[in-house]
Amino acid sequence: MMLPHVTSEGNHRAVAVFDSGLGGLTVVRSLLEQMPGEDIVYLGDSARVPYGIKSLETVRRFAMEDAAFLSRFNPKMLVVACNTATAAAGEAIRSVSKVPVVDVIAPGVAAALGSTDGGIGVVATEATVRSRAYQRAIQAVDPDREVLSVACPLLVPIVEEGRSEEDPIVNHVLCDYLHDLQRMRPGALILGCTHYPLLGGAIGKLMGPRTRLISSAAAAAAEVRRRLDETDQRNSRSAGGRLECYTTDNPERFAELTERFGGRRADAVHYVGTDELETLSTKDDANDETS
Ligand code: DGL
Repeated sequence: MMLPHVTSEGNHRAVAVFDSGLGGLTVVRSLLEQMPGEDIVYLGDSARVPYGIKSLETVRRFAMEDAAFLSRFNPKMLVVACNTATAAAGEAIRSVSKVPVVDVIAPGVAAALGSTDGGIGVVATEATVRSRAYQRAIQAVDPDREVLSVACPLLVPIVEEGRSEEDPIVNHVLCDYLHDLQRMRPGALILGCTHYPLLGGAIGKLMGPRTRLISSAAAAAAEVRRRLDETDQRNSRSAGGRLECYTTDNPERFAELTERFGGRRADAVHYVGTDELETLSTKDDANDETS
């Protein structure tokens, strides 16, 4: 499958990005800040969002379908821009993908470990916390590192609803979720969910200056840039990359909200049904390099 305005040739191929919905556009925002010339094809599975309250088995199935769909565009890299999908299916996607895969957990963990010798806090969805993916990734490098992970299920709907960081409801909810983390006084706090960078100011205020906030979105974008540079795959254009989006529900609403999450409007938003995603044989399609 080819995108109308995006080439499937060489270094001009797009970077493919998926998330459960709009949240992964925070990763796109960081990608475009760091590499404004890259074309991006994005899939937001808005019909099935949120992934963060579902079982890891269900999320794995959805994530494999998302990855298989994007492999049809012959991208040069696949970015799993969803912490929950990474926790549930990161390894499974990597094992079938023919293109390099960057997720949001490994880069965030590396940035956190590099930023402090102290404890590390993690805020994430219920499913991500249940998977212990962050804890395992941190303690694989440093088994003695103190890690405290806290699930914050209300934050995704709060951000989706467009509430501002100054909203007293937001502050009230954050105070409740961050209570134990404030007592821990970690050296770094990983924002382990795509939506949380949009509440970074309020979270930073409550945690205080001693705690460095790590955005997994920014860390993942830096990793994509590093990997493209390393393999000499950067688009030769220095600006003007296209952002083509696919969503499994309501393209009009998706288009309206793209700017808030992604920092710019999409060049196009197309609809793809979950019925189409479900027909994809994940293994075969993720292995299929043709466009
Ligand atoms: N994208 C998800 C994540 O980063 C948050 C939204 C959801 O629960 O689907 O974990």
